[in-house]
Amino acid sequence: MELVTKTSPCFLMLYWVTPALSYPTGAPVNACVSMTPNHNTSASDTDSPYTVNITEAAYKHGQMIKVKIMSSEPYRGIFLQARHYNSSTIAGSWKDLPANIQTINCGSGTSNAVTHTSRTEKPLGLVYTWIAPSSNGPEKIVFQATVVKNKTIFWTNIRSSELQLDTSGAASGLKMSVSTLMLLLVLVVINSV
Ligand SMILES: *[C@@H]1O[C@H](CO)[C@@H](O)[C@H](O)[C@H]1NC(C)=O
Ligand SMILES: *[C@@H]1O[C@H](CO)[C@@H](O)[C@H](O)[C@H]1NC(C)=O
Ligand SMILES: *[C@@H]1O[C@H](CO)[C@@H](O)[C@H](O)[C@H]1NC(C)=O
Ligand SMILES: *[C@@H]1O[C@H](CO)[C@@H](O)[C@H](O)[C@H]1NC(C)=O
Repeated sequence: MELVTKTSPCFLMLYWVTPALSYPTGAPVNACVSMTPNHNTSASDTDSPYTVNITEAAYKHGQMIKVKIMSSEPYRGIFLQARHYNSSTIAGSWKDLPANIQTINCGSGTSNAVTHTSRTEKPLGLVYTWIAPSSNGPEKIVFQATVVKNKTIFWTNIRSSELQLDTSGAASGLKMSVSTLMLLLVLVVINSV
């Protein structure tokens, strides 16, 4: 018992400074661009056992897209963003997140990146909900993640398939019909005067 009491603070200390989990409460904003934990261990160069999966090939302004981290192995840390396909510019925002997951604000954005709140093991198949920008969305985006498996191993630059902006369809169609309706109302009012 005495031994445990004596060694545990030391153990905690080691755990705290352990590289890959040096952010037990999530990635800080200064990692927004590199998406790499700030420490001495580099990312694993083996194939990532984690993939970032989406079912859509296109998105519309304001659309919600479900993003899944898939693997047969749990993970402890996550950093996830939607990026313009060919740059580190972030797009959209996140909401309705699972337990022990939070959003952070990268750059001048709001809730535009997702990270863990604790280093508990995350259940397999967690789903993260992304909301596309309501206007001026990039032509093409890709979801990019860094996944921390345990205190020594993490993978960066894990990318989903790409998502193309689709400007046709429901959202703008609805806007059109609302303004058409307004015009009709105005005409009716004018005619009845
Ligand atoms: C990283 O390495 C430097 C120099 O070797 C050392 O001073 C520092 O404490 C290390 N940081 C971590 C988080 O291990
Ligand atoms: C998930 O994504 C990976 C790589 O992008 C792909 O190889 C795999 O087939 C996808 N899995 C599912 C179930 O869609
Ligand atoms: C990124 O892609 C867009 C269009 O998809 C293109 O206009 C732009 O030049 C590209 N930028 C870079 C840095 O490749
Ligand atoms: C971390 O995961 C790797 C790969 O699965 C494994 O070899 C290693 O033992 C694990 N380390 C710890 C500290 O859990």
